[in-house]
Amino acid sequence: MADYDFDVLVIGSGPGGYVAAIRAAQLGLKTACAESRATLGGTCLNVGCIPSKALLHASELYEAAAGGALAKLGVKIDAMSLDLGTMHGQRLEAVNGLTAGVEYLFKKNKVEWLKGLATFESADTVTVAGRTVRAKNIIIATGSSVTPLPGVTVDNEAIVDSTSALELPKVPGRMVVIGGGVIGLELGSVWRRLGAKVTVVEYLDQILPGMDGEVRKEANKIFKKQGFEFKLSTKVTKVERNGAGAVLTVEPAAGGAAETIEADVVLVSIGRKPNTDGLGLDKAGITPNGRGQIEVNHEFETGVSGIWAIGDVVPGPMLAHKAEDEGIAVAENIAGLTGIVNHDVIPSVVYTMPEIAGVGLTEEQAKQTGEIKVGKFPMLGNSRAKTNHEPWGFVKVIADAKTDKVLGVWMIASVAGTMIAEAALGMEFGATSEDIAYTCHAHPTHAEAFKEAAMAVTGKPIHV
Ligand code: FAD
Ligand code: NAI
Repeated sequence: MADYDFDVLVIGSGPGGYVAAIRAAQLGLKTACAESRATLGGTCLNVGCIPSKALLHASELYEAAAGGALAKLGVKIDAMSLDLGTMHGQRLEAVNGLTAGVEYLFKKNKVEWLKGLATFESADTVTVAGRTVRAKNIIIATGSSVTPLPGVTVDNEAIVDSTSALELPKVPGRMVVIGGGVIGLELGSVWRRLGAKVTVVEYLDQILPGMDGEVRKEANKIFKKQGFEFKLSTKVTKVERNGAGAVLTVEPAAGGAAETIEADVVLVSIGRKPNTDGLGLDKAGITPNGRGQIEVNHEFETGVSGIWAIGDVVPGPMLAHKAEDEGIAVAENIAGLTGIVNHDVIPSVVYTMPEIAGVGLTEEQAKQTGEIKVGKFPMLGNSRAKTNHEPWGFVKVIADAKTDKVLGVWMIASVAGTMIAEAALGMEFGATSEDIAYTCHAHPTHAEAFKEAAMAVTGKPIHV
């Protein structure tokens, strides 16, 4: 290693960075990970996936109790109330447990945590909290942060971003969400379930951009029934504080008369941007692309030999599991093995109720590739969904008309996030719709709907 301090230095300890560091150490490489947060785990464990899912789970149970769904099952609760403090407490417990878990894994695998902000001095040298560190390989895994809305100041009280929206000290009466994407719908669901009237203002003509068109429409219908109000094709031109709350000025995206909406809390959730500011990338010889991302090759190496990048800071979906898989692959490539991520088969899940999930091509995208066949099965026809009183949604399998190879799977179902794993596995193995249709699925499970949707591609399902 000559005069290098480490074989591998990872910058950032999110799901990309911490997984890369652990795998590199497992492969016998002397590894350090720089992290400026007080705890390890990045956005995902501290202020993203984990705390949001803790609140989604708790608020779902609250709504089931408060809204009468439990009473319909014979579970009668005579007196109930919301204890928001305890709900936040269990959120923090999940975060603390998991971030401490990463620290434990670092110790176990002998990954050194360099506490502080890392800045490049040159292509192989970085300073962290006054310490200069030379590494043979440097992995940039600095993740992403909230995209600001020009002219709107997040004050973490009446105007919040995804982080402060996790920590609201009381349930707002009226919440306006700017952006009908994943964060808006997940965190909007949390506060709606706890009692807020939620209005979503979305610039495009439909929510959930990037997802299958039919899924987007159906999701919109289901969320409206739940009480969400949507203002589609609408742009926000101003957000100002108004006493304890805020007032938004909105107008049709195509132009037209403006109107105002009052809110107790406004959530700005219009996307995330890669973290490259302050990294000193110029000293390393790296220039981000027009979208602020760091470009890499198939092995996750940047244009500069020995500098690699993964996760939200590189192009592709900003998802924790994508970052993790890239983390494993980059460490294996550095160790001289062959680390590969199949970017065509990255599942995505929205953890609302019902959940929304997809993998592969949307029907719109698949049509561009040639002739396709589509099979659909409604969750209404699935016995487990029926028993659990979860009738919402459908499963849709999109296959190539000639080869029958599955090109994409989309679903709305209470447990779609779990069901989509089977679709991803099938696609990874090049499954045809017939392969899935002839695979025996346990009864009664929601997953039978996937089998029946596959049966619908070339023939007929049984239960509709
Ligand atoms: P990050 O997790 O962003 O971690 C990067 C880390 O690098 C940070 O801790 C940062 O402090 C550190 N860092 C940055 N610069 C430096 C520096 N110069 N020196 C030292 N440290 C530095 N994805 C899912 O797949 N499923 C979900 O359910 C999900 N839910 C989400 C909910 C919310 C509210 C949000 C905001 C995001 C959610 N995501 C979810 C997205 C997910 O969090 C990201 O895709 C994932 O965290 C990206 O991982 P990463 O390792 O690339 O970066
Ligand atoms: P997003 O990209 O999912 O949605 C942003 C929405 O805001 C889009 O619908 C967009 O059209 C709209 N928008 C943009 N500018 C606007 C404007 N000025 N006015 C009104 N609407 C506007 O981004 P979001 O929800 O902020 O999430 C960021 C990222 O975090 C996602 O891309 C996702 O990858 C990740 N994430 C993943 C989760 C999951 O996997 N379950 C959960 C939460 C976040």
